[in-house]
Amino acid sequence: MPLTSRLFALIVQIPSLFLTLALLFSLSACEMDADKKMTRYQSGDRAVDQQVEVLLEKMTVAEKVGQLNQFNGGWYSTGPIAADNEYNNKRVKGLRDGAVGSMLNVVSVAATREAQRIAVEESRLGIPLMFAYDVIHGYQTMFPIPLGEAASWDLEMIERNARIAAVESSAAGLHWTFAPMVDIGRDARFGRVMEGAGEDPYLGAQVAVARVKGFQGDDLADDNSIAATAKHFAGYGFVEAGRDYNTVDVSNSTLWNVILPPFKAAAEAGVATFMNAFNDFDGVPATGSHYLQNTILKHQWAFPGLVVSDWDSIGEMEEHGYSRDLADAARQAINTGNDIDMESAAYLDHLEALIESGEVSEQTLENAVRRVLRLKFALGLFDDPFRYADEEREQRLVGHADHHAAARDAARKSAVLLKNANQILPLDRADQTIAVIGPLANDKDSPLGNWRAMAVAQSAVSLLEGVRSAVADDDRVLYAEGAALVTGPRAFASYLTLNEEDRSGFANALAAAEQADVVIMALGEDAYQSGEGRSRTTLDLTGLQQELFDAVAAVNDRIVLVLMTGRPLVIGDLADRSAAVLQAWHAGSQAGHGLADVLFGDYNPSGKLPMSFPHNVGQLPLYYNQKNTGRPGPGGDVFWSRYADAPNEALYPFGYGLSYTSFEYSDLALTQSTLPLGEPVAVTVQLTNSGAHAGSEVVQLYIRDRVASTIRPLKELKGFQKVSLAAGETQQLRFILGSDELGFYSGDGRFQIEPGSFDVFVGGNSVDTLQTSFEWLEVE
Ligand code: NOJ
Repeated sequence: MPLTSRLFALIVQIPSLFLTLALLFSLSACEMDADKKMTRYQSGDRAVDQQVEVLLEKMTVAEKVGQLNQFNGGWYSTGPIAADNEYNNKRVKGLRDGAVGSMLNVVSVAATREAQRIAVEESRLGIPLMFAYDVIHGYQTMFPIPLGEAASWDLEMIERNARIAAVESSAAGLHWTFAPMVDIGRDARFGRVMEGAGEDPYLGAQVAVARVKGFQGDDLADDNSIAATAKHFAGYGFVEAGRDYNTVDVSNSTLWNVILPPFKAAAEAGVATFMNAFNDFDGVPATGSHYLQNTILKHQWAFPGLVVSDWDSIGEMEEHGYSRDLADAARQAINTGNDIDMESAAYLDHLEALIESGEVSEQTLENAVRRVLRLKFALGLFDDPFRYADEEREQRLVGHADHHAAARDAARKSAVLLKNANQILPLDRADQTIAVIGPLANDKDSPLGNWRAMAVAQSAVSLLEGVRSAVADDDRVLYAEGAALVTGPRAFASYLTLNEEDRSGFANALAAAEQADVVIMALGEDAYQSGEGRSRTTLDLTGLQQELFDAVAAVNDRIVLVLMTGRPLVIGDLADRSAAVLQAWHAGSQAGHGLADVLFGDYNPSGKLPMSFPHNVGQLPLYYNQKNTGRPGPGGDVFWSRYADAPNEALYPFGYGLSYTSFEYSDLALTQSTLPLGEPVAVTVQLTNSGAHAGSEVVQLYIRDRVASTIRPLKELKGFQKVSLAAGETQQLRFILGSDELGFYSGDGRFQIEPGSFDVFVGGNSVDTLQTSFEWLEVE
């Protein structure tokens, strides 16, 4: 069935819990059939696999198919949803018929309990549902967007934030989050870079593991743990030209060395589920890719968990031109390892017939069902399907004050100081007059970011609020919006109407700037300018922001630019004309306080960029770990690999970020300069805090394998440590480089080590490094 005939409409709506409850309560009025109850499955003390087999024995083919069917709750949409009632009725009736195994976007104890009650009390076998939701960077308490969190390079903090998100969302009845997104992002035009950990596979892998551990905790059966999802498998970060849902065309070498490492790390960390992707890989939709799902994930990596499709990505295989119809798509998806069908109803409508015709074997169906049931057992749902349904916990834990303290800590650790001319920062809170100007200065919504789960709209601490509470005498804080960024409503908007006309606030902004000793300008992106479906072709400030900046800069050049964005923007001119630049991202519920902590020096900034910031959009995709090319230059005037009108390098490179103190690197040394192939080498370096403040530095270690059978990048991150030093303190740091760090994948997915020369670089970003080298010698 083609997409158009499914009457899809993009629903843009504020969640309405009441609609869900109304739908669900209308069903609960139905009488239960006592005979059916008799056959309901009871959990015993046998090993999980045995229990799964006992249950499978009792299931009809239709019930097995039901376990693989995931429906949206009907009241909150994160994708295109059918507008016809027939479809909605089918969805709700399915709960009672055992035709639904899991749901997404059913949120709150009240709603999940009611849906669960129907599933366990009114369906023939009473198999509990799993409730999934996009808990991406917090449930109600929002942490910085994932790209921002990654800028902290603080794995403990990232794990803690995911843990808190799990505590809140499990208290609200949820079992499963569709996070972490572990797609590598090299192209800031792609709006979803906000959701990942940036451009580097090593950092991406570490962050992926931290998030998985945080969400899943020690044991999935704990009532405060939720199953995590590594997504989108695979290649979604490489959509051509940064346009969402676009085709992907990457080499196998890039697949193995860049795209897959965070997924593999997540799998090794025990992530419970994978989500496949909207894009194709090598001409085959990821959702129907035998190579990705069966060969790599389930066979080579022996991943025991389940694979869920992305929203309607089975149905979309028709649009890709890969499936003749929805039945064909269902056949291709399940036969290639896609276990759960999110929202396309392809399995629901066609799997039984496919089993009957033999196009899908019952064994394939059962293997998929086994994966689903195992997770339900692991979550403890057969022991108590309502274990997550506790209003008291929900009320007590969602938005807890301790969680907000953590959010403040995260906001300040995620900020990256890009410029600080003449040490204009930290600001003097005692006697300066400070103007806080810009459309994002008192915005209490954008800091919540996109993918904000159940954050309360307008609930963030704005930058202005943070600044006012940080200074003793807030009469000295002047405020002017200058110009609104967006006109009209914006909650969950697909398209924002940007203000390009109303300059009536300029005069106040200029008056404030004239009176002030220093101007904090808060510019950037609205929360909904980045995220899914928010690709851009320009990365300049939108609306009247540039004009406002120009006008303010003409009257006061002591500008501290605070950039609230979901991605790197093109900021060269702004940075040149600002005294200081703080990249703040969308920093979460406590954004204003966290950023004020940095601006006034209560926290010494320690963030480092997880993505390169370009000089201009034409440089994209831009990433530090490039290959060298055959003409790296600099050569003559023309024939070498460069642009005629811009540098090759980033404006601010990967790993870059300043502090209020200074750090010096010295004495980079290796235990040996030649050693047998495979033997690890130890790297040591001295780090000195040579400035006047205590501070933290992210010490980064890169390598270059100079000659290899598959060309290796100029630099590859292979280790980092975040170190706190008092002023004047020196510490020696030690890294070990072994086969895991020095090996690489050939295009066919074989991990290998090769003899030869390696450069080793250590420094505070990917450009400014000390360098040494060693040789791995062939063993005779
Ligand atoms: C589509 C997105 O690509 C995916 O990441 C998300 O989990 C689903 N929608 C469900 O909301």
